[in-house]
Amino acid sequence: MYAQIETLLTVSHQSATVIRPETAADIADIDALHEHAFGPGRFARTASRLRERVPADPELSLVATVGGRFAGSIRLTPIFIGDTPALLLGPLAVDPGHGRRGLGKALVRTSLARAAERGHTLVLLVGDAGYYGPLGFHAVSPEKVWLPGPADPKRVLLAELVPGAAAAAAGAVRDGRG
Ligand SMILES: CC(C)(COP(=O)(O)OP(=O)(O)OC[C@H]1O[C@@H](n2cnc3c(N)ncnc32)[C@H](O)[C@@H]1OP(=O)(O)O)[C@@H](O)C(=O)NCCC(=O)NCCS
Repeated sequence: MYAQIETLLTVSHQSATVIRPETAADIADIDALHEHAFGPGRFARTASRLRERVPADPELSLVATVGGRFAGSIRLTPIFIGDTPALLLGPLAVDPGHGRRGLGKALVRTSLARAAERGHTLVLLVGDAGYYGPLGFHAVSPEKVWLPGPADPKRVLLAELVPGAAAAAAGAVRDGRG
C-alpha cells in the first residue's frame, strides 16, 4: 500500500510541469531547440533583427520543464512601436517530445501575466493568428505599425495588456534601445 503511494508520488513528480525564469544553465538547451525549430535562417528574420542589439528581458524569459527536464522556452524583448514602449514576443518553442500538451500556451500566458504585472502594456509578435488569436493577439494594420523588414501582414499580431493601449501605438517598430 505505502509502496504504491510512493510510486504514484514519484510518477507525479517526474511529470510535474514548472515554468520559471531562464538561467545561464538553460542556454545550450534553448539554442539547440531554436536550431531544431527554426533552422539557421532564423537569424535573418525581421523579428530577429529587432533582437540583435537588445537582450531579452531576463524577467520575461521563461523556460518550461517537465519532471525537471527542459521542455520549452519563451523570450520577450523590449521594442518601441513609434514612440510607445512595447515588447516583442519570441522566440516561442516547445520540444516536439512535449508538444500539444499546452506548454506553448502556458508559456505565452505566463509571460504575458508577468509582463502585465511589471507595467508593460503591449506585446507584438510575428506568428500564426490561428495559434495566438485565442491568447489575445489580433492582426494590426501594416499602415499603422510596420516592421524594419519584410513580414506577412496577417502574421503581425498585437496584444493589449491594458485595454485601449493599442490606440497609442503607431509607426515604425524599432529595437528597445530608446
Ligand atoms: C508552436 C509551438 C510553440 C506550440 O507548442 P505546443 O506546446 O505544442 O502548443 P500547445 O500545446 O499550447 O497548443 C497546441 C495546439 O496548438 C495548435 N497549433 C500549433 N501550431 C499552430 C499554428 N501554427 N497555428 C494554429 N494552431 C497551432 C495545435 O494544433 C494544437 O491544437 P490542439 O490543442 O487542438 O491539438 C510548437 O509547436 C513549436 O515549438 N513549434 C516550432 C516553433 C514555432 O513555430 N514557434 C512559434 C513561432 S511564431
